[in-house]
Amino acid sequence: MKEYLLTAGPTPVPERILLAMAAPMLYHRAPAFMECLKETTEGLKWLFQTKQLVLQLAGSGTAAMDAAVCNFLSKGDRALVVRGGKFGERWGKICQAYGVDCTFIDVEWGRSVDPQLVKQSLDKDPSIKAVYATASETSTGVKHDLEGIARVVRGRDGVLLCVDAITAIGVFDVPMDDWGLDVVCLGSQKALMLPPGLAMIAASEKAWAANAKATLPRFYLDLLREKKSQEKSETAFTPAVSLIVGLRESLRMLREETLEGVWARHDRLAKATRSAAGGLGLELFSSSPTNAITAIRVPGGIDGSAVVRTMKNRYGITIAGGQDHLKGKIVRIAHIGYFSEFDIVTAISGLEMTLSDLGYGIKPGSGVAAAQASFAQTRTSP
Ligand SMILES: Cc1ncc(COP(=O)(O)O)c(C=O)c1O
Repeated sequence: MKEYLLTAGPTPVPERILLAMAAPMLYHRAPAFMECLKETTEGLKWLFQTKQLVLQLAGSGTAAMDAAVCNFLSKGDRALVVRGGKFGERWGKICQAYGVDCTFIDVEWGRSVDPQLVKQSLDKDPSIKAVYATASETSTGVKHDLEGIARVVRGRDGVLLCVDAITAIGVFDVPMDDWGLDVVCLGSQKALMLPPGLAMIAASEKAWAANAKATLPRFYLDLLREKKSQEKSETAFTPAVSLIVGLRESLRMLREETLEGVWARHDRLAKATRSAAGGLGLELFSSSPTNAITAIRVPGGIDGSAVVRTMKNRYGITIAGGQDHLKGKIVRIAHIGYFSEFDIVTAISGLEMTLSDLGYGIKPGSGVAAAQASFAQTRTSP
């Protein structure tokens, strides 16, 4: 059966990148690889919209999140963690694993945080050293108001804003320097259209100053050591050579498309997916939807896990279901990375057929028609 991958990571990898990664292995201390690292370093600065060095680490996105804690805090420091889904929770778990004391802002899953709550917490407790936030919460399909959060954190001496931008960068505008973000994390298997295994992280000057005083234990994820190496187009350890070669191709593709073009592509696909849900009479789970993934409430009487299973087993379409208390309640269709109009049409068509198979009465084609109407409205090329 032909397979269609519509998850938010891993995501499909374009042929151009696959071919680039299939080239013979490079020795990481030879000039050819160092040239490659130099190009990816420059490309990542462009993508993150920063003057800072963006470090490339072997590891999944969580490695960058781990590094964002252990390089900037000391044991017993207090952090403010915004928690409204699995990835917000992950910030809390990492902090607690390192003995960082957490104050949580718990946001109802499906909703975005009110930046005023961040402000109130910071005003109330001047001992807070860092705020850990998620730009795009993949587990609930929520886009948080990162700009609003940045506005209330920026300018506070001694408070860092550390951002999981893993499903945000390359999806919508996250200008690191303009918004004054201090630590920004990314993973390869998302908008960069690469296989999993490469983590990227950038830190502001304020964050590097905090790093000089931070005493949490670290070895593999010691960012200062990596910085000293990567400034010279070297790496502290054997890098993920093939992924970095793939990253060079990915960044070339994204540059050809332009940042605005990349964001517009995600916006079109997300809008069409949301319209399709409406066309099917289904509700969106998120009141503040991200352009990375669309979370759709499964209609009453239908088991969301059966929807995911049937789409995969009968039609070869992999989408994600809900996690924790959302298990069986939502399905999530991704549009982050290498997707086009027909991937969305395929997914929606598969969802319609699956819902019919499971006995839910829908008008075949109603979701696809809504998606097509949305595409017609947002089409820019002839
Ligand atoms: C928002 C967000 N944060 C963090 C992660 C964790 O990244 P990884 O699974 O690559 O460690 C993911 C990946 O699914 C994510 O979507």
